[in-house]
Amino acid sequence: MQPHRLFGCLLVLGSLLLAASADSSPIVGVLAQEVYSDGLISHHFENKTSYIAASYVKYLESAGARVVPIWIGRNRSYYEDLMHKINGVLLPGGATWFNQTDGYADAGEHLLQLAVQLNDNGTFMPVWGTCLGMELLVYKLANGTDHRINCRGTGMALPMELKEDYKQSRLFNASNEAVVALMVKENVTYHWHQFCYTEADFARDQLNKSWRVVSVNSDLDGIEFISAMEHIKYPFYGVQFHPEKPLFEFVKPSIPHSPAAVLSGQYFADFFVNEARRSPQSFANATEEARALIYNYKPEYTSILGSTYIQQYLFTDKEMQLEETGFEGGDDGDDEPSYYPPGHVYGDGNGAAAMLSLGTGPLLAPLAIRLFSIDF
Ligand SMILES: *[C@@H]1O[C@H](CO)[C@@H](O)[C@H](O)[C@H]1NC(C)=O
Ligand SMILES: *[C@@H]1O[C@H](CO)[C@@H](O)[C@H](O)[C@H]1NC(C)=O
Ligand SMILES: *[C@@H]1O[C@H](CO)[C@@H](O)[C@H](O)[C@H]1NC(C)=O
Ligand SMILES: *[C@@H]1O[C@H](CO)[C@@H](O)[C@H](O)[C@H]1NC(C)=O
Ligand SMILES: *[C@@H]1O[C@H](CO)[C@@H](O)[C@H](O)[C@H]1NC(C)=O
Ligand SMILES: *[C@@H]1O[C@H](CO)[C@@H](O)[C@H](O)[C@H]1NC(C)=O
Ligand SMILES: *[C@@H]1O[C@H](CO)[C@@H](O)[C@H](O)[C@H]1NC(C)=O
Ligand SMILES: *[C@@H]1O[C@H](CO)[C@@H](O)[C@H](O)[C@H]1NC(C)=O
Ligand SMILES: *[C@@H]1O[C@H](CO)[C@@H](O)[C@H](O)[C@H]1NC(C)=O
Repeated sequence: MQPHRLFGCLLVLGSLLLAASADSSPIVGVLAQEVYSDGLISHHFENKTSYIAASYVKYLESAGARVVPIWIGRNRSYYEDLMHKINGVLLPGGATWFNQTDGYADAGEHLLQLAVQLNDNGTFMPVWGTCLGMELLVYKLANGTDHRINCRGTGMALPMELKEDYKQSRLFNASNEAVVALMVKENVTYHWHQFCYTEADFARDQLNKSWRVVSVNSDLDGIEFISAMEHIKYPFYGVQFHPEKPLFEFVKPSIPHSPAAVLSGQYFADFFVNEARRSPQSFANATEEARALIYNYKPEYTSILGSTYIQQYLFTDKEMQLEETGFEGGDDGDDEPSYYPPGHVYGDGNGAAAMLSLGTGPLLAPLAIRLFSIDF
């Protein structure tokens, strides 16, 4: 081989190796969420206005990704800039209203609009929604119409009821049969939600044109709901259950930790992180990347204080580079102390107790109950 050709080969090889290394260590953004104005975090940690449950971070890390926190309350240019650097977005579960300004839902709207644009523009940008995150995905892609129904899905460990054509889904087209056999037989998925989407509603409102239902389950009253889905056009995925909890959350006795449940949770982490590996984007340089990563923050041991999350990353407005306006988690100027019923997230009650604590709050309006989600 002539020297210049060898050099050319090396160059090609070199750039392939570079590309491979960039592709195989994706960075996924995890959206933060506003804390309750009268909740456990506000009581124990001064000035912390948003959080990320550490289980979502560990979940992505367990599959080979690194994590960048995505702040709430920022302007469009922040989200636009970040969305050109990360390789995927995870919208975690939690408890907030979709109409709360400058919080999780508003940030989610920016992220989803940008993810749609990026994909339309030919840049692969996957999005994963867990529980409330899945609800937000559907809600925002349906242009802000709420298709959720109330259901009782708190504290259930269930097998996956895969649709007949599940093999056609991207989520499962490359799945290992032995893993699937365990998923459909054992109680591998953990549910904690008071809202659901149903196939009937998706069909009636034509959401079935954009979403493929991959699995269903039934709530405590026997109402069948969608438990896993994927967007037909975009690399967007939603699960109503919590794949991260069997691996990383231990407070609720109802969370399954069997080998099958852990394997199943890991399956979804691996799937999504592999999707993120297909995204070509990166930070401008190593310094910028290092400053953005979650390693800049230390999680707190919050279950010992009564939280159902073992560990949480907690952020101040300053850390989110917001103007320090004091507490921001309240109702947009309304200083009602229990806008968020704290019993909800941090209590270890069962579903019924959670419902009751909602009922005793000042926001008894059925609409409030409908918009509020305790979908951890
Ligand atoms: C909380 O913010 C106030 C006002 O900026 C400040 O005086 C106080 O030291 C902060 N507390 C902590 C624990 O950082
Ligand atoms: C967005 O916020 C950043 C600082 O947080 C500021 O520098 C920038 O001017 C703002 N952009 C717009 C369009 O408001
Ligand atoms: C997608 O492309 C359009 C047209 O070039 C551009 O205006 C828009 O900013 C792009 N969106 C993103 C998120 O890059
Ligand atoms: C939402 O709005 C966009 C843009 O107007 C439109 O293309 C899309 O079909 C709408 N989606 C639904 C579910 O109504
Ligand atoms: C699964 O589907 C994706 C997207 O359609 C495709 O790229 C991939 O090759 C499929 N994998 C298998 C094993 O069929
Ligand atoms: C799954 O959970 C249900 C309800 O708790 C129980 O009846 C069933 O035996 C469990 N199945 C397995 C395979 O553990
Ligand atoms: C959506 O559901 C409706 C009603 O069942 C059905 O007629 C239609 O074919 C479905 N659309 C798709 C894309 O599956
Ligand atoms: C890294 O990128 C950022 C953002 O583009 C830039 O401000 C900074 O100067 C760069 N740093 C180095 C060391 O190149
Ligand atoms: C958000 O929804 C709740 C419950 O319906 C309602 O009480 C509140 O006024 C709404 N907030 C805004 C800013 O629209």
